[in-house]
Amino acid sequence: MSDLSGKVAIVTGGGGGIGAASASAMASRGAAVVVADVNLAAAERSADVIRANGGEALAVAADVSQRTQVEALVDAALERFGRLDILFNNAGIQYDKSMEDTSEEEWDRLFAINVKGMFLCSKAVIPALERQGGGVILNCASVASFRPLMGMNTAYVASKGAVMAMTRDMAVALAPRNIRVLALCPGPTRTPITADSIARGVITEEEVRALQLTDRIAEPAEIGEIAAYLVSPAARYFVGTGVVADGGMCIT
Ligand SMILES: NC(=O)c1ccc[n+]([C@@H]2O[C@H](COP(=O)([O-])OP(=O)(O)OC[C@H]3O[C@@H](n4cnc5c(N)ncnc54)[C@H](O)[C@@H]3O)[C@@H](O)[C@H]2O)c1
Repeated sequence: MSDLSGKVAIVTGGGGGIGAASASAMASRGAAVVVADVNLAAAERSADVIRANGGEALAVAADVSQRTQVEALVDAALERFGRLDILFNNAGIQYDKSMEDTSEEEWDRLFAINVKGMFLCSKAVIPALERQGGGVILNCASVASFRPLMGMNTAYVASKGAVMAMTRDMAVALAPRNIRVLALCPGPTRTPITADSIARGVITEEEVRALQLTDRIAEPAEIGEIAAYLVSPAARYFVGTGVVADGGMCIT
């Protein structure tokens, strides 16, 4: 039931981390995947991995904060695969900065990618999903949608709160059109975002682990498996909710 054969999925930020792992997990369930990333070389690498494993993939350069690039992305997906069933709004950035240390420009850029990007991508795919008779939009939120991150990530936490609120509203608006909207809320996951925070000494790996009950950071592949399940028909009863996969971080 978590089979995705015949489905076409767009994964934004698919060139790295959770996006790359999710693109691979969706492809391994039979989906053709459009790997979209602002970094085309990274998107190409993800698409190559999928093809090497026998899957179908198309790499597209797209900055999710730019409407014309997002529209071109959807056109490219439809031109190549002829249909569209799934959007994983995964692209996101963070700065590891307190409110005082965050500049206005950084705040605007973060919201342009983390929140407006999801708005633009969702808006662009809705007509194609409707033509197909429905579809799924999975938004990447975070544990930060529900709890602070030690007061050192104000813009990011605010953006992920907005993603969760937007997810609920989109779910209500799109359910009558058979478009299922939900969010995935990962905890700390071993991707370049987390590695960068640890490398810059913002937080140690031990401190990250101490925030959870599992004493380990998630691997991108296990979060990718959850994303692939959530966009599948097997998960059709998950609507408008945020599925938290965080090793227990939200309850500590
Ligand atoms: N890693 C974690 O611990 C963690 C935890 C919770 C939520 N998340 C969320 O998961 C998502 C993916 O994070 P990750 O850890 O895999 O990050 P990452 O930095 O490893 O990968 C993000 C990818 O997005 C791409 N990207 C950045 N800006 C873009 C833009 N404007 N347009 C298109 N692509 C862009 C990057 O090139 C990169 O390939 C983000 O939304 C992040 O907030 C991550």
